[in-house]
Amino acid sequence: MKNRLRILFLASEVSPFAKTGGLADVTSSLPKALYDMGHDIRIIMPKYGVISERKYILREVIRLKKIPVRMGNKEHVTCAKSAFIPDSKVQVYFLDYPPYFARPDLYVDSKTGADYPDNAERFMLLCRAVLATTKLLHWQPQVIHCNDWQTAMIPWLLKHEYAQDPFFASTSTLLSVHNLAYQGSFDKSVLPKIGIRPEQTNEDLEIYGRVNFLKSGLVTADVITTVSPTYAEEIQMDMELSAGLLDILRARKNDIYGILNGIDHSVWNPEKDEFISAYNIDDMNGKLENKKALAAKARLPFDETTPIIGMVSRMVDQKGFDLVADVIDKIISLKVQLVLLGTGDEKYHKFFKKAAKTYADNIAVFLTFDEALAHLIEAGSDMFLMPSRFEPCGLNQMYSLRYGTVPIVRKTGGLADTITDFVQEPDKGNGFVFEEYNSSSMLTAIHHAVTAYQDQKNWSKIQRRGMKIDFSWTQSAENYVKVYQKLESKKRK
Ligand code: ADP
Ligand code: GLC
Repeated sequence: MKNRLRILFLASEVSPFAKTGGLADVTSSLPKALYDMGHDIRIIMPKYGVISERKYILREVIRLKKIPVRMGNKEHVTCAKSAFIPDSKVQVYFLDYPPYFARPDLYVDSKTGADYPDNAERFMLLCRAVLATTKLLHWQPQVIHCNDWQTAMIPWLLKHEYAQDPFFASTSTLLSVHNLAYQGSFDKSVLPKIGIRPEQTNEDLEIYGRVNFLKSGLVTADVITTVSPTYAEEIQMDMELSAGLLDILRARKNDIYGILNGIDHSVWNPEKDEFISAYNIDDMNGKLENKKALAAKARLPFDETTPIIGMVSRMVDQKGFDLVADVIDKIISLKVQLVLLGTGDEKYHKFFKKAAKTYADNIAVFLTFDEALAHLIEAGSDMFLMPSRFEPCGLNQMYSLRYGTVPIVRKTGGLADTITDFVQEPDKGNGFVFEEYNSSSMLTAIHHAVTAYQDQKNWSKIQRRGMKIDFSWTQSAENYVKVYQKLESKKRK
């Protein structure tokens, strides 16, 4: 293929191997789309304890049996194994270093609820090992595509430690920001542990007196992307959403692109979903079967005319659970049932557990991570609630549209880019949208949805409209390729 690009793609989580949120869905489905377009794309991620070598058939790679990585005064001997993303030909290298990665959790120790104290060392080792791995493979990427803070030190390393290395002379870097709220900010005392000498510290590395991995990447990457056009604008305007990095982002305004995430139709498709009864736009009977199955699973009394509102989410402040908690009684008085699947902050666990007891016929709460149930909630719910305070992109509203489950969302980030309010625009609306971040605006939107639901003809119009929208990766992956090509043409100049 002409213009075939060699792209090295790095991420701290990739579905189905390891996942805490939407990042893993994107880092699996975007590379698949790029491969299908004919590009040479390879992924590197950590080999966590949760990744089964047998299930995914991880194989040794002769050249990668020993990858020595020097960090400070320590030499860590790592290795890497390889496998393919299931049902694809995208090759993934798993960086294996048990002292850092063979743990039950990815970033946060579920036993203590706190970040692992050595996260700086863990992910700096990953970044350093990635560059060593590439050299051992004799595979020179044209673009290194980093994702989020865990891989954001690669551009810094290339600028500050590999600038003279001919191997990377024609390698460009792209940093995708999936969520600016997570930055990898550490006390400066980590510097010797991550192998950075005092004379190497300058404004590329620090902000507010701390080492900040994401900031370093934002300053040193050749180009930056984020996961929706609206979020790209918001983070250059809004003090809160820029999370302390407003000046840094503004300084790079010409290099920031907002590219909307796509969804993977081989995983999220009601016609072929292994976890549900199949259905499609012409035959929605299966959706009713799924609603029954969901009510049974949630131990809620089934009533066809009572709308089920689904939520599947990390239970953190970003996602607007405080608004839901604030008016939970009023929501239930609208005669709806709520099925919630999520894990996160203890305060939300406690609140919703109690609410499920108080409203045993109306609220069901699952405080676990359960892929199959996430699919059943998408398929069996009538509505899907995402009242996010901010949302870089959000995938569940797009999954919901595909499953004929009508989204109720706050107008922010990717939610604003994908959902149009039915009340304001009856000819175009595919969901219900509220603007102000407060519980009464949210309640009004839920009320509008419940009212529209009473008119089944109208409701099915909204459902069908959503089901027809194409949010597959085709367009978005092409937008990434355009950015890669821009980087290539810059090099030639
Ligand atoms: P974020 O990445 O901020 O968590 P997204 O909407 O982009 O939000 O993606 C969330 C992804 O994680 C979706 O695929 C969703 O189904 C999944 N998810 C979140 N929490 C759970 C859970 N408890 N069990 C199963 N899947 C979950
Ligand atoms: C982040 C964001 C979410 C986005 C996902 C994938 O976790 O919170 O909005 O959809 O990354 O890009």
